[in-house]
Amino acid sequence: MTVDRLTRVPGLLYGGDWNPEQWPEQVWAEDVKLMAEAGVNLVTVGVFSWARLQPDSHRRDFGWLDRLLDLLQRHGIAADLATATASPPAWLVRAHPELLPVTADGVRLEFGSRQHYCPSSTAYRAAAVRLTRMLAERYRDHPALALWHIHNEYGDHVQECFCPASAAHFRRWLRERHGTIGELNRSWGTACWSQGYGSFEQIEPPRTAPGPVNPTQLLDWRRFCSDALLALHRAEKAVLDEVSPGVPVTTNFMSMLKALDYWEWSRHEDLVSDDAYPDPADPRAHVNAAMTYDLMRSLKGGRPWLLMEQAPSAVSWRPVNLPKRPGLHRLWSLQALARGADGILHFQWRASSAGAEKFHSAMLPHRGTASRGWQETVRLGAELRRLGELAGSRLHGRTAVLLDWDSWWALELDDHPSARMRWLDLLRPWYAALYERGVTVDFVPPGADLDDYRLVLAPNLYLLDTATADRLTAHVRAGGHLVCGPFSGIADRHDHIHPGGHPGPLRELLGVVVDEHWPIPDGTSTAVTLGGATGAAPGAAPGAGAGDRELRAEHWSEWIETEGAETLARYASGALAGLPAVTRRRYGTGSAWYLSCHLGTGIGRVLDLPLAEAGVGAELPGLPPDVEATRRHAADGTRYLFLLNHGPAERRVPLDAPGTDLLTGTAVATAATLAPLGAAVIRIPAAEERP
Ligand code: GAL
Ligand code: ZN
Repeated sequence: MTVDRLTRVPGLLYGGDWNPEQWPEQVWAEDVKLMAEAGVNLVTVGVFSWARLQPDSHRRDFGWLDRLLDLLQRHGIAADLATATASPPAWLVRAHPELLPVTADGVRLEFGSRQHYCPSSTAYRAAAVRLTRMLAERYRDHPALALWHIHNEYGDHVQECFCPASAAHFRRWLRERHGTIGELNRSWGTACWSQGYGSFEQIEPPRTAPGPVNPTQLLDWRRFCSDALLALHRAEKAVLDEVSPGVPVTTNFMSMLKALDYWEWSRHEDLVSDDAYPDPADPRAHVNAAMTYDLMRSLKGGRPWLLMEQAPSAVSWRPVNLPKRPGLHRLWSLQALARGADGILHFQWRASSAGAEKFHSAMLPHRGTASRGWQETVRLGAELRRLGELAGSRLHGRTAVLLDWDSWWALELDDHPSARMRWLDLLRPWYAALYERGVTVDFVPPGADLDDYRLVLAPNLYLLDTATADRLTAHVRAGGHLVCGPFSGIADRHDHIHPGGHPGPLRELLGVVVDEHWPIPDGTSTAVTLGGATGAAPGAAPGAGAGDRELRAEHWSEWIETEGAETLARYASGALAGLPAVTRRRYGTGSAWYLSCHLGTGIGRVLDLPLAEAGVGAELPGLPPDVEATRRHAADGTRYLFLLNHGPAERRVPLDAPGTDLLTGTAVATAATLAPLGAAVIRIPAAEERP
């Protein structure tokens, strides 16, 4: 099942994790009363209640949850009911000590925190599935139930386990993937360092070893670990689908998490939900948040998603935890809506008085209803009610960013030319440049249909199979534009180097060949000059170029030679001075660009060229600094223009159509004025949209 309207609850969803097992039942009555006052319509319950539901191996205590769900129902609040499996109880752990996870160094992690389980443990899995079934059978028809919440944040604390059960599971997985031990030896390149295996039984997980571990073994391990957790998730999902059909199911993702291939995972979700904790101490936090929200929207092809958790103010798990200054939480909540969310939930409803998270902010802070936090909780709830008609509307980018977990994992393996080539470090400046230009992007997986996108960006494609390369080539031939970042087209899916020179299967499309990778030492940079400079020899003095045309390459450069591409920028200092740095090849009716270096924040000046060529512009032209603009589209043609001012100064934004600001109920004609941290959500009727 894939759903467009997230749950049967009308309008936008508002609420948070409620952990009533931490409180006497008298407090619940006050909780639901205050929830109603704040406009809460959905709460996540039971996430960490396994020990309460099953106090020991033969006792069950569901009475309190019956009363809780009934109470919610009476107050018109829906439940996102958790399967409660993220923290197995002490009695289960002591009965099956082998279910505790083991690190690469052989340390068995103790009970006393959460997520203390081995993903491959049959005892854990059987108990988790049993509990899920009990909950599903008991509550499938409960009128408060609106959404199932499987587990909690897979991969948060434990992403891998090196115990014997995991080793056996890994071997089964390898046998399925490779078929024969001969194939595995070929794939892993075990001829290097005398690593050949005689049988699958000889293989172990990549535990701590004397030196570098076989890279393809590590790559297969990353794939296996994502699959092993997904298998657990699917086991619970299958029970819910069978016992409680028709009720949507989700699990909360963790933004852009390396460990889990969310393209694969999201295929098994009815709806995508995400936990996002942008750091109030980071002045660029909203840019990274926008990026992960765009991914969450993209995971299900643009369908609305749910912000399952965010902190109302400070978190408690950073070394220093800054609160959100007044207005920031509202603005960041609206930002999630601006990028396709249909609900704003929090961790957590009532601030804990004990335990690891007692200093984490909550919708209802320790100080109670007199607190600033509570006032903001009530105000945000009221505003979300005014925005209810947004639910189900969508936004789409015309620019796509390729994201491939396989390539991410392979890129960051050890013993590469430079350890500085990290996917998120490469991606972020590209994304930030588009964000600053007001261009909305979608993320796409390597196998995606690219027809909707005039411009496709690939900040890095270290691992690239020929099928994907062929698809990109066909897209450009048919008039698309592709921009490809450095260290791409290097390896196949076994992490074997493509023969015949980099960028392997993209060599013809890009019209360049890499002679040698040329990492740039930390703390230094290489000059790159846009345009102008002519074909000087390597090592020669830079050509003319100053000011705007001067960029700096950091961490990475490449000695490249063109084979049909034009040179648009050249290195202007260092050993590569005079050689091409940025190229473009016209191919078919489109164009293919190659960036051979990491340009940091200067990347925008290069991306301006393909953006112009592809005719991709800002969602709203003439945006002042610090203002983010996106547009959601309803099925009836109504547009919702979001304007968000992330800066400290008042901003005036020229509009391209008149409408009504839903937050204030006032008409706006030619411009909107935004206070510092202010926002507007402007409804533009279909007829008013200028062509
Ligand atoms: C999330 C987790 C919640 C809570 C929250 C605190 O990672 O899912 O249970 O711990 O962090 O920020
Ligand atoms: Zn294990």
